[in-house]
Amino acid sequence: MTVSSQRSVRLTGWGRYAPAQVLTNADLERMVDTSDEWIVTRTGIRERHVAAAHETTASMGAIAGLRAIHTAGLQPDDIDLIIVATLSPDHWMPSTAALVKEAIGNTRAPAFDVAAACSGFVYGYATASAYIGAGLASNVLVIGAELLTRYLDYTDRGTCILFGDGAGAVVLSASDEPTSTVGIELTTDPQGAYMIWLPAGGSASPPSAETVARGEHKIRMEGRETYRFATRTLASTALAAVAKAGWTQDEVDLIIPHQANARIIEAVAKGLDLPMDRIFVNLDRYGNTSAASVPIALTEAVAEGRVKPGDKIVFVAFGAGFTSGAVALEWTEDPARARDADQVVRPEHVTVRKPVDWDSVDPIPPVLAEVLAKPLPGHMDLSDVVPGEPEHAHAHAPD
Ligand code: UT7
Repeated sequence: MTVSSQRSVRLTGWGRYAPAQVLTNADLERMVDTSDEWIVTRTGIRERHVAAAHETTASMGAIAGLRAIHTAGLQPDDIDLIIVATLSPDHWMPSTAALVKEAIGNTRAPAFDVAAACSGFVYGYATASAYIGAGLASNVLVIGAELLTRYLDYTDRGTCILFGDGAGAVVLSASDEPTSTVGIELTTDPQGAYMIWLPAGGSASPPSAETVARGEHKIRMEGRETYRFATRTLASTALAAVAKAGWTQDEVDLIIPHQANARIIEAVAKGLDLPMDRIFVNLDRYGNTSAASVPIALTEAVAEGRVKPGDKIVFVAFGAGFTSGAVALEWTEDPARARDADQVVRPEHVTVRKPVDWDSVDPIPPVLAEVLAKPLPGHMDLSDVVPGEPEHAHAHAPD
C-alpha cells in the first residue's frame, strides 16, 4: 500500500499505560526452572508489568486511548473510528473496542477489533490509514492492548518468561498538510500458523473440562521457529515499507520494532545495516506486550527525546499467523504535546462497565498471585512504578 494519492494521514496523538505491578526475573525464578542470567542473555528482558485483578485489556486500552486523544488535542467524541488490536480480548463477544468506546465516553464511532497477534497494531494502523484515505473517517483511535499474563502456562519456562501486560495508542487524523504516513507493508505466512497459537476456546475446540485439563487455553510456541521467522522477515518487511516511502534505509532516523527479544532486534539492525542507536529498545522493562509493544515503545521514544519533527520513523512487527507489518512515517508533531497526558488521564477515572448479573472468577493465575503476594525481601522498589500510575497498586508491598 502506498499512501500518497489519497487524503493525507497524520499521526497526531500517542499515549500508553502500563499496570503498576512488576514481575521480575527473580520472581520467575521462584515459579519455573530458570535464571535471571538465562532470561537476560537470551531475551534482554528484566521485568514485565502485570495487570491487577480489576484491570482488563479494555481498561488498559481505554487509558492509553484517552492519553492519545488528549495528546492530539481532541475530545473523545471527535474520534469517528475506534480500532483495538489484541489477542487477549476481555471476552470473545463483544469486541474489546466496543467496551473501550463506552469507557472513553465516545458516542459516535464504530468500533471493532483487529486480530493479527503481535503485528496487530501495525495492521490496525494500516486499516485506519485506509479509512482516512478513502474519506470514511477523519480521526481514528488505534489501540494495541494486551493482558497476556492471564494466558500463560506458568509451568512452561519457554513462554511464561517472555510476555507482559500493557497498552499503547495513537490517533491518526485526516489533514490538509503533507501526509506523515508514507509507506505500509503487511505480510501473512500461514505456514507458521501453529508456531504460536492458543489451541482451545475457538470453534475448532470449544472450551470444556477436557480442554482445561489439557492446558489448551494457554499460549503455546515453537520458540526457535518463531525466532527464525522473525529474523528472516522483520528487516525485509521494514525495507519494503521504506522502499514504498521512496527512502533508502540509511535515511531512517529511528526504527521502533516489536519488542520480542533483544537478539531479534539486533538481527534487524544488522539486516538493515543500521547502528543500534537508531533502533528503540525498551523490552528490558516490559517484556513482549504483543500488539501493545510498538505503541508503548513509540510513546516512550517520544518522551525520551528520541523523536523530533521531520524524523523518518519505521514501525515494524511480527507475530502469530505468521504475520508481519511495517509503517514508514515522517514525524510531524511537537513531542512536548504529550507532556501532561499521564497526569490528566488518571487510571482511577477510567472504568469499563460490567454486566449487572455476572462477575468473573478471580482472573489472576494462582501461581502468579502467590508470587506477587510474597515479594522478595528488599523488593519494595517504587522506581519500578511507571510515572503517573497509582503507587498503592504496586504489588511489591511488604506483607
Ligand atoms: O511476538 C512473538 C513472540 N515470540 C517470540 O518472539 C519468540 C522468539 N523466540 C525466542 O525468543 C527464543 O527462541 C526463546 C527466548 C523463546 C528461547 O531461546 P533459544 O535460545 O531459542 O532457546 P531454545 O528454545 O533453543 O532452548 C535452549 C535451552 C533448552 O534446553 P536444552 O534442551 O538445551 O537442555 C531449553 O529447555 O534453553 C532451555 N530453556 C530455558 N532455560 C532456562 C528454555 N527456556 C528457558 C528458560 N530458562 N526460561
